[in-house]
Amino acid sequence: MQRLRRLRRNALLRDAFAETCVQTKKLIYPVFVVWGENKKEEVPSMPGVFRYSVDRLGEIADEMLSAGIAGTMLFGIPEEKDALGSGACAEDGVVPRAIRFLRHYCAQKGKRLLIVADVCLCEYTSHGHCGVLSGDDVENDASLPLHVKAALAYARAGADMVAPSSMMDGVVAAIRAGLDEAGFSHIPVMGYSAKFASAFYGPFRDAADSAPQSGDRKSYQMDFRNGREALRELSADEEEGADVLMVKPALAFLDVVRVARENTRLPLAVYNVSGEYAMVKAAARAGWLEERRVVTEILTAFFRAGADLVITYHALDFAGWERENG
Ligand code: PBG
Repeated sequence: MQRLRRLRRNALLRDAFAETCVQTKKLIYPVFVVWGENKKEEVPSMPGVFRYSVDRLGEIADEMLSAGIAGTMLFGIPEEKDALGSGACAEDGVVPRAIRFLRHYCAQKGKRLLIVADVCLCEYTSHGHCGVLSGDDVENDASLPLHVKAALAYARAGADMVAPSSMMDGVVAAIRAGLDEAGFSHIPVMGYSAKFASAFYGPFRDAADSAPQSGDRKSYQMDFRNGREALRELSADEEEGADVLMVKPALAFLDVVRVARENTRLPLAVYNVSGEYAMVKAAARAGWLEERRVVTEILTAFFRAGADLVITYHALDFAGWERENG
């Protein structure tokens, strides 16, 4: 008889033959940076996640450094928004300031964190769309130079990687060319390649104050009914010169992660988004789920599906549990 239970008999055997493990070094923690001073505000729909002003970023930097995670992905909430999302491109805007602060802070401690800068306009536009508008339409090509300008501002400030998340066609190629021309050929681009129009972004839009004021994002983000089209998006980014591809959200799209893994040789990231985090936190708070076990199971599933890097709001909690384990 096939006795598959033989290798499950005790914890040593199970650990010895475990196929997948979650390494804290492969986790990225998103951080929301808000304009102003002395701010640390909890995001109501994301318990345990805060918006920090630049002067208080040291607090979360310390947590990330002691957690031993790979690094952070930065999102900015500017002082003012306008139709073009100018704040995204400002050399002295909230994200470049945050990057310079974190660089300096970590250097003082003789440590390093990977600093990934999200590149999008939605947190900076008065209308909340990820590109510029012409009537009700989000203009693709007119939005590209703004993305390039933003990516350059972040690279100059010292970002290790930029990650365009607007789903504009050609944005990876445009940013790649812009970076190369400005002497940043060594800075990688992570494409949010297959990013779906998803209700799971709800809490993020509270955190980043970035909900579209009219309409939705369905003319640029992907339709969640489409798996084959996701492959086209992934290969488009690859052809445009992306160094890392991404699938987002994660939990409801693990089939896409698996197919992506099988169809590219590039590294693959998944973004375990705000709504996925909020669901777990809410159920844990109600006493309906064991948070630690559920989060471990979820993060393991991402790696088992084929992810190389996971962007997750659970990163610090998970690292803390790992430390307890010894
Ligand atoms: C910006 C952006 C969003 C997220 C990452 N970058 C929001 C959106 O597209 O509406 C979502 C992240 C999350 O939900 O955690 N375009």
